[in-house]
Amino acid sequence: MSASAPQTAAGWHARAAAFAPAGDLFIDGDFCPAASGDRFETVNPATGAVLAAVARGGPADVDRAVASGRAAFRGGAWSRCQPRQRMAVLGRFADLIERHAAEFALTDTLDMGKPVTEMMVVDVPLAVLCLRFTAECIDKMQGSVGMTGQDVLSYVLRQPLGVVGCIVPWNYPLLMTIWKIAPALAAGNSVVLKPAEQSPLSALLLARLFMEAGGPAGVLNVVTGFGPEAGMPLALHGDVEKIAFTGSAEIGKLMLVYAGQSNMKKVATECGGKSPHVVMADAPDLEKAAEWAAMGIFGNQGEVCCAGSRLIVERAVADEFTALLKEKALRNHVPGDPLDPATTMGPLVDRGQQKRVLSYIAAGLEGGAACALGGGVPAGLEAGAYVSPTIFTGVDNSMRIAREEIFGPVVSVLTVDSLDEAIAVANDSPFGLAAGIWTGDLGKAHRFARDVEAGMVYVNSYMNGDMQMPFGGWKESGNGRDKCMDSLLSYTQTKGVWVTFE
Ligand code: NAI
Ligand code: MG
Repeated sequence: MSASAPQTAAGWHARAAAFAPAGDLFIDGDFCPAASGDRFETVNPATGAVLAAVARGGPADVDRAVASGRAAFRGGAWSRCQPRQRMAVLGRFADLIERHAAEFALTDTLDMGKPVTEMMVVDVPLAVLCLRFTAECIDKMQGSVGMTGQDVLSYVLRQPLGVVGCIVPWNYPLLMTIWKIAPALAAGNSVVLKPAEQSPLSALLLARLFMEAGGPAGVLNVVTGFGPEAGMPLALHGDVEKIAFTGSAEIGKLMLVYAGQSNMKKVATECGGKSPHVVMADAPDLEKAAEWAAMGIFGNQGEVCCAGSRLIVERAVADEFTALLKEKALRNHVPGDPLDPATTMGPLVDRGQQKRVLSYIAAGLEGGAACALGGGVPAGLEAGAYVSPTIFTGVDNSMRIAREEIFGPVVSVLTVDSLDEAIAVANDSPFGLAAGIWTGDLGKAHRFARDVEAGMVYVNSYMNGDMQMPFGGWKESGNGRDKCMDSLLSYTQTKGVWVTFE
């Protein structure tokens, strides 16, 4: 943890008591209320306490934010500046986020419930890393020159798109936002960001720090509010060239509809999944596999798009593995006060999500699965939106709990008799985000990696990787790729230029 971060629960609670976040829109370099004057409350899911009354943006605010972004883009102070200049601003932006690590940790923990230690050791450092990686890529992008006959020069320019709308979810409020805005800004675009209504606060802190880092006014705008009121007009806007979206598949599909109904803008979606995590009997270390499997579904309360929510286990080791999984869940994922640095699991984002997850648990029992662990609200934590780590065994891949994204700490254990069957079950899903396999057999590992229908595959670990590894899915998990160099390129477009000399 950084020097300024509290080291105790009492220290974090003292900070929380003094918490006074910005709650206005950020347009054209300034905070301002919504045109309607309306506000909505954002709530701490660990306690139910109201944190702030946040501006409830609507179509008029989106129009103003897009116009500001467009004017900044045409003005060229960001879109046409020297690459080094953008690199310097984004570098300072990363430094500022790092310096405000404890403030970001407090903000997202209070707003959506994840453990403060997760923020300090995962979300904030990974956000800073993403910004630095992306900034470093800026002057590595190139256009090209074509082969032509004499007296002709043909070249391809790579240029920013214009105004990019970023619509992000609440499970990693800071990190998912950075994954979108870092490449959009790095490529020279202006951004209008619509954070999730459940977790709008850290986006406003980001906007302030971007200006402090030297970002020009209008280049990064934030319109807080609800999906249909603020997100939809952004996605339908005729002067927005791209929507970068992370969230549910249902809303991701709508983004494509909105693009078709408006200006055929580019759409990049990242839409969750039902990711298969396979454990073969020849796994080199079953205990390690169980530890990663528990982390892969119970980490971040299971509110993770690439969560390994279907554990597909070879029958010979299924009982032993399930026993180990229970042990790891009970030891490493214990619900508690998210402001206590020792806590490993917080509440879900809100009461609505808690209700949704509990209804899936009921559906699992009705469908005939056996609940081997958890299955309800942890005792003593009824004041918050908590759900205990829950393990279902005896799951068939046709059950609802094996097909639909639950987005909570609920895992289905399915048994299979061979690698072929494991691959067939893995691919029997509308989704295709991540997949994992534990095996000591290189041939099996590579065959799985070749044949599984997923955008990311992990062999003998899970949810691993670095900034170069593309993050995104196949099938209904979406069409976008975050993090890697390709992501940066996806916020640019090419322009062919044909010059004749005579
Ligand atoms: P959602 O997909 O409704 O929300 C994601 C973002 O889209 C938010 O910023 C929201 O305001 C915005 N949005 C919603 N409706 C919109 C519309 N019509 N036009 C434009 N923007 C719109 O997700 P929600 O309701 O928060 O969660 C429901 C389920 O979705 C979760 O239980 C989970 O299964 C899944 N989900 C998956 C995520 C992922 O990372 N893959 C993240 C969040 C949710
Ligand atoms: Mg929604």
